[in-house]
Formats: sequence, C-alpha cells, structure tokens
Amino acid sequence: MKNVIFIAPPAAGKGTISDYLVKNFDYVHLSTGDMLRNEVASGSLLGKEIDALISKGALVSDELIIKLVESKLKNELFGKLFILDGFPRTLPQAEKLDEMLISMGVTNNVVIYLDVTLEEATKRAVGRIVCPKCSRSYNVYYKEASPLVEGICDDCGVALEKRSDDTEETFKKRYQTYLDSTSPIINYYKQKGILESINVMRTQNEVAKDILSVINDENVSVKRRKSD
Ligand code: AP5
Ligand code: MG
Repeated sequence: MKNVIFIAPPAAGKGTISDYLVKNFDYVHLSTGDMLRNEVASGSLLGKEIDALISKGALVSDELIIKLVESKLKNELFGKLFILDGFPRTLPQAEKLDEMLISMGVTNNVVIYLDVTLEEATKRAVGRIVCPKCSRSYNVYYKEASPLVEGICDDCGVALEKRSDDTEETFKKRYQTYLDSTSPIINYYKQKGILESINVMRTQNEVAKDILSVINDENVSVKRRKSD
C-alpha cells in the first residue's frame, strides 16, 4: 500500500478517512491540525500564537509547520506506512516535503485530492462535533456520522465538543485561505503525475472503496489488513 498525502478543502473528510485507514490497516496518521490544537491545549506561549491564527482561519508559518513535520517524519513515521493530513498546504511546504521524502528514500506515495463543494464542506464543518481525547469527528447532520449515544464519543466515552474554528464565519475565511494558498498545489502534483481525485460527496463507505482502489498496490492490502 502507498503512503497517503491528502490535499483537500477544509472539512472535506481527511480526518474521517484517516481514522478508517488507521482502524483497518497499518497506517500511522499525522494530522497537522490535531498537532497544532494539542499545542494550543497545552497552554504554552507558542500555543497562544497558534490559537490566534487558527481562530481567524489563517495558516501558521511555513517555517514552524515544516520544522514540526520534519521532526515527526524522520523520528516517528520513517519506515512506517503513513498518512499526511493537512500537510502540505502551500507550495513551499510541498517543495520541502518532496525534498524530505527524497532524502529519506520514500517513494511509494500517492497524493489524494478530496473533491467537495463549498456548500457541502460548510455543512460538514458547522455540524461537526469532535472527541477532545482521540480527535474523532462526528456530525449532527448525518446519521452515518452520528455517535451511538448523542454527544458522546463511541471510542472514548467522553463528551464531544465543537471546534472553535467551525463557525460559519471562520469557515468562510478558512475556505478562502484554502483557495489562495493550498489549491495551487493541486496543479503541482498533477504535473508530477501522482495526483488522484476522489469525489467525497457520497457516503463514507462509498468514499472508502475509492480510497482503497488508489492506495492499493498488487493486493498487498490483503496481507496488511489488521483483522488478518
Ligand atoms: P485542520 O485541522 O487540518 O483543518 P482543516 O484542513 O480545515 O480540515 P478539518 O480538520 O476541518 O476537516 P477534515 O478534512 O479533517 O474533515 P473531517 O474528517 O473532520 O487545520 C486546522 C488549522 O490548523 C488550519 O486552519 C491552519 O490554521 C492550521 N494548519 C494545519 N495544518 C497546517 C499547515 N500545513 N500549514 C499551516 N497551517 C496549518 O470531516 C468533517 C465533518 O464531515 C465531520 O463532522 C465528519 O463526521 C463529516 N464527514 C466526513 N465524511 C463524510 C461523508 N462522507 N459524509 C458526510 N459527512 C462526512
Ligand atoms: Mg481534520
């Protein structure tokens, strides 16, 4: 199976698909958003600076995020099958990622673009509730994304919360940031011939089937399925 790099508008479903891959296969998941929110939750000075940026729908600096991701890639993800969720988000980040992967000799990668409309992404963000412990996302608008017990995480049993940047107003800014800074990297990867596009305006099961078809190489998935 291939390492997965997600490029997508906010709230397209990167985290949800990543959870599915981690639960069913040997994937390790790196979400830069979760990593930054953990820093915010720690109450550190850096966390306060990050919080100010996230709350207004802006990106943290390339310099900071590259430093954090580089350390994780080299120390925790190297040699494992991994998912990058939320990185790269700018052209300099994409170029730096290429450099890192080449220097690590990691070549079996696929970049997956999740195709979703602004209207659908807005609905997914505004209806989202997340587990503060494991970061799993649920949604009040979709039955298949609802927790078994209202307001409680199926996995951790703790109360679900809303993310502070999931208001309609902040979401507009996040989406504009995506259009300005992240969408140009779609062409960057298209030109490299490693971009796969998936329509995610369907049920999670349907999306999962398409994801499997692009991450699979030579039926290796059968061996790496956790349940086997
Ligand atoms: P980040 O946490 O990455 O936010 P995001 O990109 O806006 O993505 P989300 O986490 O909102 O959505 P998702 O695609 O994971 O969707 P999910 O699976 O939850 O980043 C947050 C902030 O950190 C950024 O704004 C930025 O400030 C900063 N940052 C992060 N990385 C950075 C970087 N590299 N450089 C600089 N700054 C960076 O699903 C959404 C909802 O939809 C859920 O409720 C889910 O249940 C539901 N859902 C999912 N799939 C379906 C489906 N098929 N049908 C119906 N509902 C569905
Ligand atoms: Mg996410």
